[in-house]
Amino acid sequence: MTAGRLDGRAALVTGAGSGIGLAIAQRLAADGARVLTTDRAGEVDIVADVTALGINTKLVAEAEARLSGLDIVVACAGITGMEMLDGAGDEFFDQMMAVNVTAVFRLMRDALPLLKRSPHGRIILIGSVMSSFGEAGMTAYSASKHAVLGMTKSVAAEVGAFGITVNCIQPGAIDTPMTAPAFTTMPEFKQRWIDKAALGRLGQPQDIADVAAFLASDDARFMSGHGVFVDGGATQRQ
Ligand SMILES: NC(=O)c1ccc[n+]([C@@H]2O[C@H](COP(=O)([O-])OP(=O)(O)OC[C@H]3O[C@@H](n4cnc5c(N)ncnc54)[C@H](O)[C@@H]3O)[C@@H](O)[C@H]2O)c1
Repeated sequence: MTAGRLDGRAALVTGAGSGIGLAIAQRLAADGARVLTTDRAGEVDIVADVTALGINTKLVAEAEARLSGLDIVVACAGITGMEMLDGAGDEFFDQMMAVNVTAVFRLMRDALPLLKRSPHGRIILIGSVMSSFGEAGMTAYSASKHAVLGMTKSVAAEVGAFGITVNCIQPGAIDTPMTAPAFTTMPEFKQRWIDKAALGRLGQPQDIADVAAFLASDDARFMSGHGVFVDGGATQRQ
């Protein structure tokens, strides 16, 4: 914790009901930020589905009303799923894109007017190692996370003129309710990710939250448009 580092900053975190989003919301608050949390489930300020029509304008209006603005937006709500190409239906692919891509696009767009008013606007997106790589069964998920990294680069180019930075955290395998079912039913899959990581373990939500807090802080003021791997060294070795 770096107490006081985010004093006076207002933050909105989606997907804050569980896992990585919950840890990020808690860490930003511990650093001094006032945090508005949302999720479709869990103990959050606003229970809502990020794919619902008009929800992002509502979230931004709530941030304006409750926090008098926004300095930090963290888009963490996300879903995953494993389907081989020949078994994946339209609905599976469309839902992956709706949550992981379209909702993120709309949130950034709708939050922009408030972020432009901030002297230190921050957009933090949650991609994945799958923003840069692929894996059998992960076509839809990796397409959605590549899109998140693509948006990071383009939006960073657009909003730098307003002093806003945009970065994408690329977690490796993190121990959360998202990965728990697969890790429980396929222990060999879990072990493969442990073995892949140079640090020899799964990540914890706190490992991601601490990097998010850094990206939200003034320490990261000249960093924008990047995908930041936080994967225990899993992807950068043979
Ligand atoms: N756990 C991992 O190994 C891992 C690795 C790379 C990236 N990620 C990404 O990190 C983010 C957080 O995942 P997590 O591991 O903490 O999983 P999680 O399931 O614990 O958290 C995801 C949260 O998003 C919320 N959510 C999903 N769909 C939603 C919707 N339509 N509207 C509102 N909220 C919705 C869920 O309710 C949940 O609280 C996701 O974007 C995920 O893709 C996770």
